[in-house]
Amino acid sequence: MQCENLVSISDLNLEDINDLFTLTAELKASLQKGEADHCLAGRTLAMIFEKSSMRTRVSFEVAMTQMGGHAIYLTKHDINLGERESIKDVAKVLSRYVDCITIRTYDHKTVVELADCSSVPVVNALSDYTHPCQALTDLFTIREKKGSFDNIKIAYIGDGNNVARSLAFLCAKLKVSYTAASPENYELTAEFLKEVAETTKDSNICIEQIRDPKEAVKDADVIYTDTWVSMGEEDEAETRRNHFKGFQVNGELMAHAKSDALVMHCLPAHRGEEITDDVIDSQNSIVYDQAENRLHVQKALLKILICK
Ligand code: CP
Ligand code: NVA
Repeated sequence: MQCENLVSISDLNLEDINDLFTLTAELKASLQKGEADHCLAGRTLAMIFEKSSMRTRVSFEVAMTQMGGHAIYLTKHDINLGERESIKDVAKVLSRYVDCITIRTYDHKTVVELADCSSVPVVNALSDYTHPCQALTDLFTIREKKGSFDNIKIAYIGDGNNVARSLAFLCAKLKVSYTAASPENYELTAEFLKEVAETTKDSNICIEQIRDPKEAVKDADVIYTDTWVSMGEEDEAETRRNHFKGFQVNGELMAHAKSDALVMHCLPAHRGEEITDDVIDSQNSIVYDQAENRLHVQKALLKILICK
């Protein structure tokens, strides 16, 4: 992998992504055969979490454990990044102790500054702008289920948020068609779509933003949704729930989709809001395979970044 950090999907080239997916598949198969790979013995990961997490925290920690290393969980209460001491000092000092840093935070600039000031790799474990580990896992999972990315179309229904952005960006890199359907004022911005269009300009695939969820799901092979209220937006919860009412992934919407369309959600799901029980619990839903793959993808990522 040419990149030293994973701050956003733009850090990765196609070769990096293919190498990551190949190693992910190998590590997953080894684990299933009960083979241990202690390639990170004696190595330590610092995990800074300024927001809640279940999947990301546990999968990174288990990833380090399975590869013979150790992970340290640091909450806002523990280090109070930027208040108790500067991001720069935290980056410089942690770099003297640990082999890699993950950070989940609000402002994307915090991740950028941490990566700029660290001498060890920094991995974005979600910022308000992007969630690259999630997108990598999502596309790995789609390829695992479908065999390839050929002619695959993804419909993303809901908020043009961190998850929507990194998914769109990775789809562009992998030449997978992506249609987002969102209410007014919650779309992917024109500026973002222009940036993404640079990546797809030599291909016939489209990364697009539309309004109508029914139109988006019509030809889709994958239907993806995420919360209407991301972490940090709790004050807007009621307004958002009103604005997103017509954007629920439910049986009625699925009736407009192909019968074998896969259903994905990064989780946590708000059952009865962005997705209904009958859809998330249906045979088409792959949300738990998707969640499991966070572990395998992040093991590959840590191995590549730490052992390079
Ligand atoms: N999908 C995801 O990142 O889940 P957590 O917020 O639980 O880490
Ligand atoms: N968009 C959600 C994703 C959670 C994994 C959030 O930022 O809260």
